[in-house]
Amino acid sequence: MYVLGIESTCDETACAVVQDGKKILSNVVSSQIDLHKEYGGVVPELACRRHVDVMLPVIQEALTLSGVSQVDLIAVAKGPGLIGALLLGMHAAKGLAMAWNKPLIGVNHIEAHLYASMMEQDISFPALGVVISGGHTAIVKITSLGSYELIGQTVDDAIGEAFDKAAKILHLPYPGGPEIELLAKNGDASIHPLKAGNVKGRPLDFSFSGLKTGVLYASKNYFKPEDLAASFQQAALMDIIKKTKLAAAETGCKTVVFGGGVSNNQTLRHLFATKTSLQCFWPPTGLSLDNAAMIAGLGYHTFLKEGPSPIDLEPMTSISF
Ligand code: KG4
Ligand code: ZN
Repeated sequence: MYVLGIESTCDETACAVVQDGKKILSNVVSSQIDLHKEYGGVVPELACRRHVDVMLPVIQEALTLSGVSQVDLIAVAKGPGLIGALLLGMHAAKGLAMAWNKPLIGVNHIEAHLYASMMEQDISFPALGVVISGGHTAIVKITSLGSYELIGQTVDDAIGEAFDKAAKILHLPYPGGPEIELLAKNGDASIHPLKAGNVKGRPLDFSFSGLKTGVLYASKNYFKPEDLAASFQQAALMDIIKKTKLAAAETGCKTVVFGGGVSNNQTLRHLFATKTSLQCFWPPTGLSLDNAAMIAGLGYHTFLKEGPSPIDLEPMTSISF
């Protein structure tokens, strides 16, 4: 079964063709980083306009590269995300579904981030899912593909958002995550003793807004950017490790599946390998950041399980698990 996936929840316009939920035949991503860089973050109105401009060429390119002349299903990220951006992907997907007389399936973008790590590898359940992206930070217990129990989430900033905001304070370009990781390599994390927050009575929840403020205060006095970047990164990453370990102990899960842009951080991958005995599954190259292969891949399984979505499917800006 050939599935065409469309992703436009935020600032990437992406289209992919995936066979049977596993084999990626094409995976085209048009990033808008150039557009939003000068503002230090995503400007929703500009994001929408760019989606309009590049949506059809991106779809065309994904189809051409896949070598597939006819797809069997159209999958689209239905949310969460920016409403205008979601609407554009949704309309493109519905247009194709109607024109080609093929079924439509709406896919949860956060769930798809986790699926990215399961695409090329067979995972045995139950497992923990850890979503660490620019918009979300959550730990779920996965009992089977499509069945999730939310056991922890951020009460304020997402971890990627904290990376981006800390980077802004350090005058680094957007998106800040990769910039901080690079700068931190030459820094001493012990210079600024920073800590991520704990939520009273909810040990598996996250809080990153205080950590960001800690960076701001530290930046008021003399500092070396590489030391502050290293201190921030260490505090943010160790918090993910601490809470994942706790969740593993509480649920008895020994396997962890990661998803979202921050899972691209190689320091985090190294820390998990050296500081825990958990079996970790990371997204393969090209599938950490927003992409449509994960949408097409998960769309296949969701369609087999639930059947098609109605053609009047609406975008959902704030769905969780
Ligand atoms: O998953 P994603 O593409 O978009 C959302 O769904 O939010 O994640 C983007 C986020 C940005 O905040 C970016 O700074 C962060 O992922 N990111 C990183 C790294 N690469 C991307 N954060 C830390 N280290 C990285 N290497
Ligand atoms: Zn994402």
